[in-house]
Amino acid sequence: METISENKLIDKPQNVKLADLRNPVESHLSAFKTFYRKELSTNQFLLDQMVRYLLKMKGKELRPILVFYAARLFGEVNERSYRAATMIELLHTATLIHDDVVDDASTRRGLLSFNQVFKNKASILLGDYLLAKGLLVSLESDEFELLKIMSKAVKAMSEGELNQLKASKLQNLTEEKYIQIITDKTASLLAACCESGASTTASTSSEVELMREVGLNMGIAFQIRDDLFDYSSLKTGKPSGNDILERKMTLPFIAALEKTSFLDNRKWRKKYRKKQKTRTEIEEIITFVNEKDGLTYAQTLMNKYSEKSIKLLKTLPQSQERTDMERLITYITTRKK
Ligand code: IPE
Ligand code: IPE
Ligand code: MG
Ligand code: MG
Repeated sequence: METISENKLIDKPQNVKLADLRNPVESHLSAFKTFYRKELSTNQFLLDQMVRYLLKMKGKELRPILVFYAARLFGEVNERSYRAATMIELLHTATLIHDDVVDDASTRRGLLSFNQVFKNKASILLGDYLLAKGLLVSLESDEFELLKIMSKAVKAMSEGELNQLKASKLQNLTEEKYIQIITDKTASLLAACCESGASTTASTSSEVELMREVGLNMGIAFQIRDDLFDYSSLKTGKPSGNDILERKMTLPFIAALEKTSFLDNRKWRKKYRKKQKTRTEIEEIITFVNEKDGLTYAQTLMNKYSEKSIKLLKTLPQSQERTDMERLITYITTRKK
């Protein structure tokens, strides 16, 4: 399969590793884990079976890391920061389970995806359960501000996923609409990480608002990176080529289409729209996107969003915590899974 070369994906000299990012907040992450597991514990047999599988699926925990990074920019990580991190990881996990049903995905976090093991119906119900659990964390401790931040994010995420579903049927996605969709479905949650983390320590609302913007821009970059993975041979723990198979239009293909004549545009859209593509047909699309520099275009736009995020962050005073956050943003655009 023709793929974007690894070299092409490593476009920044600074090769930040996830382990290095975890270091400054390692003790917070282990405390978070206790909170998280406690929220998931249940004495209902069926739920417990599913939760056990869920805990075997190890994600990057990027969102809790982000909550703690945002919190420590303005003060000491505290109990409220743990609540925010726990809520966000619960909501994130819920939306991934739902997303894998929508995308008919086969793997997640290096294991069989939830929908493969427990089937679609149970996946929808477990996702709902986790969403409710996530929101309840805030209500149980009268955290109305956190509840508001999270509910807004969940609403935006559902809108984004629905609009994407609609667009995959109509195949009418422009760059502008694509950015709107990924802002909703992905960046809104990273924005909520930064906003909620900051709100647990910051003293002014303008600091919290600034962090929301920082998160929104890095979140857009995060999803563009994810969409580039679909064209790569990197072992991300998720299937590659799945967006093409599922007819989900993402930036590399949209950018490639921009460079075609009217007739070619129609031809390639038709190929993309086809259900049940063969491996050869998928490869043909990948070659087309490569030839039209769709991947390079997507990387350039991704870098613009990450630079914007860093630029906003740099309006805060210089500190070690700020440097750590900059490194995290760089990681987002150079990560390999
Ligand atoms: C996956 O997010 C969902 C997207 C928004 C692309 P992550 O890549 O952070 O997933 P995990 O938590 O590490 O599995
Ligand atoms: C992102 O959607 C996941 C959510 C917003 C819930 P994708 O479908 O692009 O993400 P992956 O690639 O399956 O993780
Ligand atoms: Mg998906
Ligand atoms: Mg999806």
